[in-house]
Amino acid sequence: MNVTKQIFQPNPEFQKTARIKSMDEYYALCKKAEDNYEGFWGDYAKEKITWKKPFTNVLDESNAPFYSWFDGGTLNVSEQCIDRHLEDKKNKVAIIFEGDKGDNQMITYLQLHHNVNKFANLLKNKFGVKKGDRVVIYMPMIPEAAYAMLACARIGAIHSIVFGGFSAEALKDRIKDADAKVVITADGAYRKGKAYMLKPVVDEALKGDTPVEKVCVVQRNYEDVTWVAGRDYSYNEMIDNESSVCEAEEMDSEDPLFLLYTSGSTGSPKGVQHNTAGYILWAQMTMEWVFDVKDNDTFWCTADVGWITGHTYIVYGPLAMGATTLMFEGVPTYPDAGRCWKMVEKHKINQFYTAPTAIRVLHKMGENEPSKYDISSLKVLGTVGEPIDPPAWKWYYEEVGNSKCAIVDTYWQTETGGHIVSPLPGATPIKPACATFPLPGIIGEILDPETGIKVAKGESGYMCITKPWPSMIRAVWGDPERFKKSYFGDVKKDGKPVYFTGDGANYDEDGYITITGRTDDVINVSGHRMGTAEVEAALKKDPNVAEVAVCGRPHEIKGESIFAYVVLKNALDETRFEDDVAMVKELNNIIKKEIGNIALCDDIIFVPGLPKTRSGKIMRRLLRSIAKKEEITQDISTLEDPAVVKQIEAIVKG
Ligand code: WT7
Repeated sequence: MNVTKQIFQPNPEFQKTARIKSMDEYYALCKKAEDNYEGFWGDYAKEKITWKKPFTNVLDESNAPFYSWFDGGTLNVSEQCIDRHLEDKKNKVAIIFEGDKGDNQMITYLQLHHNVNKFANLLKNKFGVKKGDRVVIYMPMIPEAAYAMLACARIGAIHSIVFGGFSAEALKDRIKDADAKVVITADGAYRKGKAYMLKPVVDEALKGDTPVEKVCVVQRNYEDVTWVAGRDYSYNEMIDNESSVCEAEEMDSEDPLFLLYTSGSTGSPKGVQHNTAGYILWAQMTMEWVFDVKDNDTFWCTADVGWITGHTYIVYGPLAMGATTLMFEGVPTYPDAGRCWKMVEKHKINQFYTAPTAIRVLHKMGENEPSKYDISSLKVLGTVGEPIDPPAWKWYYEEVGNSKCAIVDTYWQTETGGHIVSPLPGATPIKPACATFPLPGIIGEILDPETGIKVAKGESGYMCITKPWPSMIRAVWGDPERFKKSYFGDVKKDGKPVYFTGDGANYDEDGYITITGRTDDVINVSGHRMGTAEVEAALKKDPNVAEVAVCGRPHEIKGESIFAYVVLKNALDETRFEDDVAMVKELNNIIKKEIGNIALCDDIIFVPGLPKTRSGKIMRRLLRSIAKKEEITQDISTLEDPAVVKQIEAIVKG
């Protein structure tokens, strides 16, 4: 069967109770947004958000691209996610926690309220955190990570979560850029049956000059850690002394909710800023539309809270709509490739959301594993983070979904806050590996980068969003110029800059959107965004490195892997082989130290020079082709040193 050519209709049983039941309903919503954009969003904002004070204006475009939504309104996200559910859902499970070893905790909305209020009081009273302060969270996947986020939201502090896989250096950079005064971390946690540590990384990051005054340490595994007197305090020892009543700060719609650092094509990571009302509105609405979670459903997103997916679809989205969300400490392949399916059976998961890279691993390691468990509770399967390949899609659809579940290939990014292009499970006829259509209210268009005109069916162009939307990035922390340049610099429609995602996309004969991948120097490794500039900057710290260029190369499991071309200062001679091996190790160690294991290079190749234009620009496209072992069709005669291309090709081909 050639799945790519097929169209799969929504499951009629599912459709009956779906929130959006047909394409006609979808088109009607799109039309509503088109006819009266502000009315569309204003109505939903009134309906979905519990306001303390109502907003007086829907959208202010006067200071574009610094848009402002729902001005005049006030709210608190922790109340939106917890307090307002206490009336009718206080004993409903808000968070199911499953530890690496299979241990569980069921946290009801009432318990969540207690825990978050206590944590909020602790941050205020013992850590001196005030409204507007930045708090860095460097945590494993344990419920306290969610409490920490919501506690910050409750007191109006701006959290910035740093993924636990980042190194001390990367953590330090992010702490400094955000000027954070408090770090919340854990001693460590469990992975693959063993304890691992986080606190030592924080200790390392805080060496030297940093703005951090205090560190709050949640004890998860009770392994020995160093305690710096006057700086480090145990959450476990202090939390019970705090009151479980903490009045929520009244926040303006446009007060910042959180920062999340992500990679761009140039420079250091940027602090993507999301603000209060618009973000939470879209987090909740996309939960309802795209996953169509019902009151008795249990939702599981396998992401880490260190990424935007974890923010929006483990914590904020599910809780804002009053759903039950599962949080998992471990990895999908431990103790074996059946772990996820075993958990789906145990917790009767209805919506399962993961990344293509995980699907490929689970497929490869346990083709028939899903059939060993009762996973019939599943209704919607989601994927996110990178284009999914048709074979992985097919296995997900047939083996995991038993050919009856909708697959939602959700396309979005850290900057968009929530989904922007995705099938609707009860409405959209799906095509494998295709994100399909923009969600209602999102004016997603594929534009020709030169003319800014929408491409015709059958053509490709740049994926843009041509109107501001509530959950869009509001700022790059501390750098308004970079914000404008990164997102509103490349594509103009009718002469006006529009938001460009950085991705290319294809508009097919039926008007479906397929995301084809980044058009810039951003690599997507296992669904993690890596900037080539960051990896290059790390490699350049090695005193032996003269020049370096990094690119992505297709990888069977990871989607892309990192491929580095390195010019050494003293070119290695006949003893090449041994020296190479040692040098490769040394360079990867530098990456590990500067960024973390997620940025390790699968290939590091030593070359005599890099292909450059006469003006000195590195020909990255050429290097990408060579890494893929593609035939070089570009004209290279105008290069500064055309011979170097053949030399590099010979080295890569081995
Ligand atoms: C980049 C954003 C969105 C949360 C996880 C990653 C790629 C994301 C898809 C998809 C094809 C996708 C894009 C995007 N991407 N989802 N369904 N199909 N590509 O967030 O780290 O901000 O990365 O991931 O290239 O720009 P992120």
